[in-house]
Amino acid sequence: MVEMPKTFEPERPEKTPESPTFTGNRGLAIEEPPIFEIGTPETTGVDFEPLSETETRLGGMAREDGIGLPGLSEPQAVRHFVRLSQQNYSIDTGIFPLGSCTMKHNPRLNEKMARLPGFADIHPLQPEKTVQGALAVMEELARWLLELTGMKAVALSPKAGAHGELCGMVAIRAALEARGEASSRRTVLVPDSAHGTNPATAALLGFSVRAVEAQPDGTVSAKNVRAKLGSDVAAMMLTNPNTCGLFEREIVEIAAALHENGSYLYCDGANFNAIAGKVRPGDLGVDAMHINLHKTFSTPHGGGGPGAGPVVLSEALAPFAPLPFLMREGNDLRLVETESDAPDGARPFGRLVAFHGQMGMFVRALAYMMSHGADGIRQASEDAVLNANYIRVQLRDRMSQPFGDRACMHEVLFDDRFLKGTHVSTLDFAKALIDEGFHPMTVYFPLVASGAMLVEPTESESKLSLDQFIGAMNSLAKAAKEGDTERFTDAPRFAPRKRLDETRAARVPILTA
Ligand SMILES: Cc1ncc(COP(=O)(O)O)c(C=O)c1O
Repeated sequence: MVEMPKTFEPERPEKTPESPTFTGNRGLAIEEPPIFEIGTPETTGVDFEPLSETETRLGGMAREDGIGLPGLSEPQAVRHFVRLSQQNYSIDTGIFPLGSCTMKHNPRLNEKMARLPGFADIHPLQPEKTVQGALAVMEELARWLLELTGMKAVALSPKAGAHGELCGMVAIRAALEARGEASSRRTVLVPDSAHGTNPATAALLGFSVRAVEAQPDGTVSAKNVRAKLGSDVAAMMLTNPNTCGLFEREIVEIAAALHENGSYLYCDGANFNAIAGKVRPGDLGVDAMHINLHKTFSTPHGGGGPGAGPVVLSEALAPFAPLPFLMREGNDLRLVETESDAPDGARPFGRLVAFHGQMGMFVRALAYMMSHGADGIRQASEDAVLNANYIRVQLRDRMSQPFGDRACMHEVLFDDRFLKGTHVSTLDFAKALIDEGFHPMTVYFPLVASGAMLVEPTESESKLSLDQFIGAMNSLAKAAKEGDTERFTDAPRFAPRKRLDETRAARVPILTA
């Protein structure tokens, strides 16, 4: 990286082939140093009135030195963040084909709704009578989620998919405790294609994890599950459609085998966007499932704060749902915050978060549901599957699929066999895609495929953008085969930063100047 001078003084860094211009900028792509290198504590974009005399309650604890945060004037601050944002790639820039992440368009209508002052400016400690509209949004969202999943209860408070897994598995543990079997059932079955959060969740709760191997076709068989069952098994965590983009066809049989064994079926619902409006997990025998609102229901990933990963629960697990509960009493809605206030039969396992969940995400998800309607949600699932299969069919002759040439669900999995003998790796291939102006697909996940490349286009892409992506993938696959390795080994060649040592960046991060 070129070191940027703080001011336009005569001393300039040397021009190098990496940075061929005087400023380090390339065209209108402006270099921007970290804020710590350009800000000074003496500068501020805001003037505060001097504080009127107040009595301090900090005793001797009051800080006397400045905290040294970098300060910028308002125009400097605006430019700093705009320039950084221009170096970024986002769903508003182009196709974001990260498999398993479902980066779909965030409709602007959702944003408009979430910014309405009646939703945006409320506080969780406001008296309930002043937030009846917000509670009604939560009630309506819960109704849609229960209708779409065919389940009995929903906990809205979890803040993400992984948090939802924790919620569902704690509910399972609470149900086992109520049966007096929590200490004997200490094992959770997890397929070897699972997302890392599944075994991590089980381990976090003190369960030991028993792997279930996939069949040669990439799915889990009821026979393999049965072979792993015993009186120690608390539950199985199964993703459906799974992380290879395939529907687990034996899920009903698997659920029945688990239930016969006294165990529960946790479904990782991260891929619900492939089947929403088509299949109800409750009808498949699922006992608990999280729904990542930022995947299936188009809320932004991140979204200016925590996200939302509601968990739906079957009849068997509903009594153990976490507080708070939303109850309707006549025309009024109220939140049950304590176990003593809970209705008969409820045995909440406690609470997961301080308040009620992420209101901003609830509004966005409900806006998506209501603007699409039941038929629109079903069509979104169908289009997501259609788009993934379009990519699969267009690329199948040049790339390789680990489980044979068969229809996929919302994402298509390729492996690295087509790169054999080319000296190009999956990582090189992904980096070369950046030079073509695309965010790469998910790589090296799931682990069951060698050098995996998992592509999820989502329903929001037009045929034109799919064709452009397919064209780039095709051209790269051809170049690799023809020995044009320069396109790969130095990639990305045209990005603001070259290839980073990602391991070092993660292990030895430099977080301040
Ligand atoms: C299959 C699967 N399970 C669980 C998760 C975790 O979800 P979250 O990122 O919302 O915590 C993801 C996230 O990508 C996923 O793809």
